[in-house]
Order: sequence, then C-alpha cells, then structure tokens
Amino acid sequence: MMKKHVEKRRDKAQSNIDFRIMSFCFSIRDNFKNPMDKIEKTGIKSGDWVLDYGCGSGSYSIVAAEMVGSTGKVFSADIHPLAIKKVSKKASKKSITNIDTILTNCNTDLEDNSIDVVICFDTLHALGNFSENVIEFYRILKSGGTLSVDDHHSEENEIISKIQGNGLFRLLDKNDKIYNFIKIENTKLREG
Ligand SMILES: C[S@@+](CC[C@H](N)C(=O)[O-])C[C@H]1O[C@@H](n2cnc3c(N)ncnc32)[C@H](O)[C@@H]1O
Repeated sequence: MMKKHVEKRRDKAQSNIDFRIMSFCFSIRDNFKNPMDKIEKTGIKSGDWVLDYGCGSGSYSIVAAEMVGSTGKVFSADIHPLAIKKVSKKASKKSITNIDTILTNCNTDLEDNSIDVVICFDTLHALGNFSENVIEFYRILKSGGTLSVDDHHSEENEIISKIQGNGLFRLLDKNDKIYNFIKIENTKLREG
C-alpha cells in the first residue's frame, strides 16, 4: 500500500506589494467601518493585556491600545515585517506607547498565562498550522481569558471546529460576526 505523505504547510509572508495593496484596502475599509465597533464586541477593557494576532497594518491594534489605556498593553504580532513597521509607525504618529510588536508565524515568546484577550481578525484562514497557533493562544491566555475570532473567509462551523478541535477552548458567545471563545481550564490537548 502506498504511504500517504502529509506535509505540514509552512506559512509564508505575502509579497511587499501585496501587503501594501492590502493595507491600502484596509485604510478604505476603516473609513467605512470604525475598527472600534469590532473591538467593543471582544470584551476588551481598560488595563487588559491583548495580543492582536495577524495584526496587518494595525487597524485593530491601535484602537485596542486606546481601549486598554495606559495601564494595559497590546502586542501586535504578524508574519510580515512590513506589518511590524506599519504598526510601529502608526503608534508613534499617535504617541501611543503601550504597543509592542512581535514578528512571528506562531510562537510569541509571551509568558504563560499573561494575556487577557487574543484577537485574531481576518487571519484564521491564512494559518496553515492553525492548530499550533491555537495551542500557543491557549498557553499565553490567563485563566478566564478569551480568544476573539472573526473571519469572513470561513463558514461558522469551520471557525468553531478549528478553535474547539483541540479541546482547549469553548464558544462563549457570538456577537455579530465575532466569535468569542473562552480558555478551558485543566483540559487535555486532543490531537486535531
Ligand atoms: C487579511 S490580514 C488581516 C489584518 C488585520 N487583522 C485586519 O483585519 O485588519 C491577515 C494578516 O495575517 C498575517 N499572517 C498570515 N499568516 C500568519 C501567521 N502564520 N502568523 C502571523 N501572521 C500571519 C498576514 O501577514 C496579514 O497581515
């Protein structure tokens, strides 16, 4: 019998020109849809520590940083170096000092149980090894911490099965198109 070879896809950053086009489109999007409307549906509050995973040009990082205020912190993570540059530039233009950036395709190097809310907007579909990302989100979230996912490229059942598949999260609520999952305590990782 022929052995099936399953290769894990390694995520790759898009080209610089594609990233710039995407950023331009997002700047138009943000003029029509205030990014704060989505952030308000995640339950982020003053003082929270937030990870914006797949931050892109930082539309949500910036408003999340305003929302958490000076006692909170936002970590903006992306696989693309231009995303990191763009977020840093936007933050310094607005004199925002509570954003740190992380260039990564999965591991964040954040401490265990240190984050209140992870937001993953319009990015889940792009994660080749999403299961590894979900495990990383679980590791860094505090007890009672939440993972907010929005992905217009994916059907509802796909979003839910990707996040709940390992048995690490449970759907808490759905607010418009934002799916808020809560970290399940003392659970065992299921092979997805
Ligand atoms: C469609 S954009 C969404 C950007 C932002 N969340 C928003 O909604 O405005 C998806 C982002 O995910 C990033 N990305 C893709 N794969 C990634 C990975 N494995 N790890 C981190 N970021 C990734 C891309 O570079 C891109 O910036």
